[in-house]
Amino acid sequence: MKVAFFSTRKYDSQYFSQYNAAYNHELNFLEVPLNSHTAPLAKGHDAVCIFVNDQANEEVLQELARQEIKLIALRCAGFNNVDLKAAAALGIKVVRVPAYSPYSVAEHTLALILTLNRKTHRAYNRVKEGNFALNGLMGFDLHGRTIGLIGLGKIGLVTAGILKGFGCKVVGYDIARPAEADSLGIDFVDLDTLYAQSDIISLHCPLTPDTYHIINSKSLAKMKKGVMLINTSRGALIDTKAVISALKSEKVSYLGLDVYEEEAALFFEDKSENVIQDDIFMRLLSFNNVLITGHQAFFTSDAMQGIVSVTLQNISDFEEGKALKNQVLP
Ligand code: NAI
Repeated sequence: MKVAFFSTRKYDSQYFSQYNAAYNHELNFLEVPLNSHTAPLAKGHDAVCIFVNDQANEEVLQELARQEIKLIALRCAGFNNVDLKAAAALGIKVVRVPAYSPYSVAEHTLALILTLNRKTHRAYNRVKEGNFALNGLMGFDLHGRTIGLIGLGKIGLVTAGILKGFGCKVVGYDIARPAEADSLGIDFVDLDTLYAQSDIISLHCPLTPDTYHIINSKSLAKMKKGVMLINTSRGALIDTKAVISALKSEKVSYLGLDVYEEEAALFFEDKSENVIQDDIFMRLLSFNNVLITGHQAFFTSDAMQGIVSVTLQNISDFEEGKALKNQVLP
């Protein structure tokens, strides 16, 4: 199949080209994101392969249909950026990578928690400058603390297992109670209990109309003073303005983000020569108890291998008319 890859970087072309030897598709790597301006670039291809911040709204999908695109292969798990109803109406199938190393994201969640708590980012800079003072670097033992996980799917459960290893009490909420909750020793609670009990809250649910801004001024009011909030899922789970107010009032004492609701205009690019225009993002950066990474939680060699081989297999299954086990339906 001839596939146009949008939003690609060097590591995408390296991994996909290497693994494609076994699949033999024709891959065309484009750096630009998919949107209404770039959709005509799909001309002459059979499928497009897109990532988390590419836009596949109705207008874009109509253009892709005009270019006779039959398949959208998401090289990620989330699919909130695709209008699935419009795709189905236009006869475009959508496939994704439902599971790839959940350890990559769960371990990055721990990296954010440990860095914020033990302030290793600040200690690194101090020691480099010959400053060995400890003022301001005091953390707390994770052992015995209560961690609340919202979303107990693949990543939430792996995160729970790691936290149990630290001796934490783990409370969890999900719209569906997973069978593994009991064996992992997770206390399954309602959201209000989770907010009231947790010293650290970490988000592991998808972005849906129900979870949009699940962290807002009302839910923040129900949390413990001094709570640590972690989001490695999708930016729009958090109302950023509300969380900035909570940081200013010291209700939230630590914020770790791998995702941001307006990240599409920033992440995956080197903006170091630009003036960043997003004032809300810049306000977040001004707090020394806020740690932001640019959507890198998935970015391990193990996860990339999984993403690449499942994506290429999804494309082959479509080409060969096989059942699409990773199809996303409206
Ligand atoms: P999953 O599908 O295995 O688990 C998601 C869980 O959230 C499910 O158990 C589901 O029942 C639950 N859920 C759905 N709606 C909910 C609600 N309203 N309240 C509470 N729970 C709800 O997905 P997985 O693999 O664990 O991934 C979780 C999220 O992590 C993805 O949706 C994606 O947004 C994000 N992600 C982020 C990455 C990164 O690089 N930062 C990489 C991969 C995923």
